Amino acid sequence: MIPFIDLKAQQVRIRDDVDKRLANVLDHGAYIMGPEVKELEAELGKWSRTKHVISCSSGTDALVLALLGKKLRPGQGVICPSFTFAATPEAMAVLGASPIFADVDPHSFNLDARNLSAALQAGIDSGLEVVGIMPVGLFGMPSDMIAIRDFAQKHGLWVIDDGAQSFGASFNDVPVGKLADVTCTSFFPAKPLGCYGDGGALFTDDDEVAEIAISCRIHGMGKTKYHNDRIGMTARLDSMQAAVLLSKLSIFQDELDKRQQVADQYQALLSAHVITPRLTKGATSSWAQYTIKLPQDCDRQAIQDALSAKGVPTMIYYPIPMHKQAPYQRYPVANGALTITDTLCDIVLALPMHPYLTSEQIITISDALKSAMAEAK
Ligand SMILES: Cc1ncc(COP(=O)(O)O)c(C=O)c1O
Repeated sequence: MIPFIDLKAQQVRIRDDVDKRLANVLDHGAYIMGPEVKELEAELGKWSRTKHVISCSSGTDALVLALLGKKLRPGQGVICPSFTFAATPEAMAVLGASPIFADVDPHSFNLDARNLSAALQAGIDSGLEVVGIMPVGLFGMPSDMIAIRDFAQKHGLWVIDDGAQSFGASFNDVPVGKLADVTCTSFFPAKPLGCYGDGGALFTDDDEVAEIAISCRIHGMGKTKYHNDRIGMTARLDSMQAAVLLSKLSIFQDELDKRQQVADQYQALLSAHVITPRLTKGATSSWAQYTIKLPQDCDRQAIQDALSAKGVPTMIYYPIPMHKQAPYQRYPVANGALTITDTLCDIVLALPMHPYLTSEQIITISDALKSAMAEAK
């Protein structure tokens, strides 16, 4: 089976360096918030060009810390896509606030700024105070931040970018991390920049958000760990994960370049047969996923089975939109229905994507897909 994501090939490349860095942690013994954590935050700051980088325990916790930083509370609403991973609306819901689901653009898969007015109205009609927007850089490409920030500014809303999948990408030469008031990312192992466990970070130039997030990641600490200024959580990154991330960061740009080459080869081989992903003008992608769209009448399961029989794994991100998942059905939906989101859930298919796919493997995957499509006709 061709690996869907190949962490083994990457590990072979960095193993000596990771071993050294992990041995260092064992030697100094500062397992939590050790020197690697500080070093990683400084390196990520250079990458994102943001004043503050706050590492934490997961991408989901980064979102919660960001929302705590924005003082989100019950009765308030945040506009977000429904075509996303559960963590996006979950972070709002656990704080007692309400996600307001808006539709996405069929080409970029990302929040469609043209749907924001309807989402704002849906929130107001539900009696919510709408305070912010949380776009998601789905599959690795940032949202159209110019249009989203423009709308946010007109309506006095803040923007928190869920960059769990898009860290490493950019929009108009501005890196993910710097595109919104606050950006959150995930270091889950399968992410473009992943550790060997759970991890995440938030990025901001906002001093107040940074202060609250730093405090909340250690139980709302104040002057010391035993002065509690607010109610927080345990959301620290540990030194071992930071050590792994420092190692991976040293090859991150090279891996991003390699992912782009994989995407280019897929595009050349597949664009005449299926709808391949398109980059929005001005955007680069970290290619967390390579997601194609199949014709609407196509039997997606049959295609997946045919590919699997040839050793090609595929995934569906996401089969059910968030606004149709049981815990989220009570939240407002822009225009009462999200037709593009619903359609995408039926037709998307993610192909293997990682920097170590060989040209021959990409040809094998593409040929298998083409013959499965021909058989399905
Ligand atoms: C869009 C999105 N947001 C948030 C998260 C949450 O990240 P984590 O799994 O690190 O909590 C993920 C992770 O899969 C994600 O894909």
